[in-house]
Amino acid sequence: MPVMKDIRNIVILSGAGISAESGIDTFRSEGGLWERHRVEDVATPEAFARDPDLVLRFYDMRRAAIQTKEPNAAHLALARLDAEWPGELLIVTQNVDDLHERAGAERVLHMHGEHLLAWCTACDTRSPWTGTLIERPPCPVCGERALRPDVVWFGEMPYRMDEIYAALREADLFVSIGTSGAVYPAAGFVRNAREMGAHTLELNLEPSKGTRWFEEARHGPATQIVPAWVDEVLSAAS
Ligand code: OAD
Repeated sequence: MPVMKDIRNIVILSGAGISAESGIDTFRSEGGLWERHRVEDVATPEAFARDPDLVLRFYDMRRAAIQTKEPNAAHLALARLDAEWPGELLIVTQNVDDLHERAGAERVLHMHGEHLLAWCTACDTRSPWTGTLIERPPCPVCGERALRPDVVWFGEMPYRMDEIYAALREADLFVSIGTSGAVYPAAGFVRNAREMGAHTLELNLEPSKGTRWFEEARHGPATQIVPAWVDEVLSAAS
């Protein structure tokens, strides 16, 4: 661990592993989502054009499921870090659930979109959405029946990349939590951060695909290793 007094700007990248202990399926573990559903059937623009009912039903089920789950100790610890950390901090999440926010974190950026927003492809607005889209409801803004899940599909550009790269350029510490390192551009953030001089730390159940790129790694369940790390950071900084 670097000397904490030298750390001011922190960027955290979170993935499905941080929500696993809340009961939300990860993508690539045994029995994970991408073992039960083919990406090409449910998570590409081509799939949506070919079989919109299948895609909308899949996301309607996921949207309903996340609303029955609760943030866990790892989300709560990051919310505490967000509230108490005096320097810059950004939680870049690949997750489309809202558990970081429900834990109380404010500095959160959803690079892969959010289940609880519907995107109108007619007027390009996003509306809060907790219900279903399968029945093709009208857009609350323009009335067109052109809503889709506001989730980034394979082949689409993740959101707010300029803001993310700007934060990585300024980061003193980059921490990756609960992500397999299988999907770019997120999987490349560790190298961007290192090139810019940040210390890099992986917190994951097991070594990720990109574990060799991190200067430091701690392995175990997020509900244990994330609160322990947050305690360490906040007590070293005080
Ligand atoms: P993955 O399912 O690929 O990886 C989850 C990671 O979390 C794995 O490395 C697990 O070892 C780890 N993990 C599992 N349980 C854990 C626990 N209790 N504590 C800590 N770590 C745990 O999920 P992501 O890396 O988030 O994109 O996947 C990245 C993207 O691929 C997703 O955002 C999604 C998916 O396709 C889109 O849908 C655009």
